[in-house]
Amino acid sequence: MLDIACGSGRHLAWFAARQHAVTGVDRDTNQARLHAPCAELLCADIENNPWPLQIDGALRTFGAVVVTNYLWRPSMQTVVNSVAPGGVLLYETFADGNETLGRPSRPDFLLQPGELLQACAGLEVVAYENGTLQDPPRVVQRIAAVRAPASKCALTPSR
Ligand SMILES: C[S@@+](CC[C@H](N)C(=O)[O-])C[C@H]1O[C@@H](n2cnc3c(N)ncnc32)[C@H](O)[C@@H]1O
Repeated sequence: MLDIACGSGRHLAWFAARQHAVTGVDRDTNQARLHAPCAELLCADIENNPWPLQIDGALRTFGAVVVTNYLWRPSMQTVVNSVAPGGVLLYETFADGNETLGRPSRPDFLLQPGELLQACAGLEVVAYENGTLQDPPRVVQRIAAVRAPASKCALTPSR
């Protein structure tokens, strides 16, 4: 499982407690190191540097990719492409309308209507919501979307 902009590591800790291997990336991994000591943590500024999750130039992919309360549009497709075949993307962050309730209020940090759906083209959308939540009042968009498993080879029986 990969958590992008993992913050305190709350999601890393949740998945790790359920025996999943977890990887987190954030520009400050100090809190995550405390809460999820077994996690693979990458301390990286993903807005000003190359994507840090690569092996030999190839994108690392994960069975689950989680992003919450974070938006950096230039990396959105890389985030989606980081979902392995058969894997799931869970993404929730603030959306257009939140500026009437509080922060963040800058358009750069607010998803536009339908934006997560568009970003997940190519994945199967399992659940999607765009609306107001309470405690604290906020407008969010959230999605759960899965990538189809890799197709199995059609083997011809040998004679
Ligand atoms: C609002 S917090 C959300 C944390 C976590 N996802 C959660 O929901 O609890 C935003 C996170 O994005 C991280 N962040 C902001 N800009 C970043 C950047 N350029 N590169 C990496 N992480 C960044 C911050 O350090 C912070 O942990």
